[in-house]
Amino acid sequence: MNHKAQEWFNPFGGHRASGRGVADDKRVVVLVSGHGSNLQALLDATAEPGSGMAVVLVGADRPDAYGLERARRAGVDTAVVRPADHPDRPAFDLALRDLVAAARPDVVCLAGFMRILGPGFVRAFPDRILNTHPSLLPAFRGAHAVRDALAYGVKVTGCTVHLVDEEVDHGPVLFQAAVPVEPGDDEDRLHERIKREEHRLLPLAVRMVAEGRVRVEGRRARIADPEEVPR
Ligand code: GRF
Repeated sequence: MNHKAQEWFNPFGGHRASGRGVADDKRVVVLVSGHGSNLQALLDATAEPGSGMAVVLVGADRPDAYGLERARRAGVDTAVVRPADHPDRPAFDLALRDLVAAARPDVVCLAGFMRILGPGFVRAFPDRILNTHPSLLPAFRGAHAVRDALAYGVKVTGCTVHLVDEEVDHGPVLFQAAVPVEPGDDEDRLHERIKREEHRLLPLAVRMVAEGRVRVEGRRARIADPEEVPR
């Protein structure tokens, strides 16, 4: 890990660990279920001097998600909301909503969060929830996108960063990147190359939402010029 990237200049009081934002930093909440390499990309990006953003909370649906460890190392608060502790999915959605809302997020980012979030959660943060998905949507929705793309025999796949609506892997697209399938690829090898693109695009998308530069018209999301954003 690049420890240098974990430090940034705080104009109000010297250096600090990533995740402890200054007062007017845009607040980012990240939800993870597993490895958390996309979370790490966000932690590194927000730790850059002058990023104007801070990851203020990392939530997970399972206590063994490695992303939680990444967050702790970066000095970011963590919390676990387990589906098994709630009677049904709507109750889980509301518990997670309350946890996330208490962190007062400008952006909520699903970074490998393997739960379907219902209206109880999604409606609380309209046009402020981002998801990254390892295919070129609308192809290969669902939990096995890389495996399904390989099985279908496509020559090009990729990733999609999109706003979250009430359907799975469906909301307006912000960014996509194509990744060619190479001879000899297996699921892991192809997924690693797709993740490299996700690591590039997800922090960019978080910044666009955080800065209020995303305009949604129906299915289309447009990135507004900085001059169009009211101050
Ligand atoms: C990413 O490819 C994401 O698109 C998918 O799950 C993967 C998570 O990877 N939803 P990581 O946990 O960020 O390493």
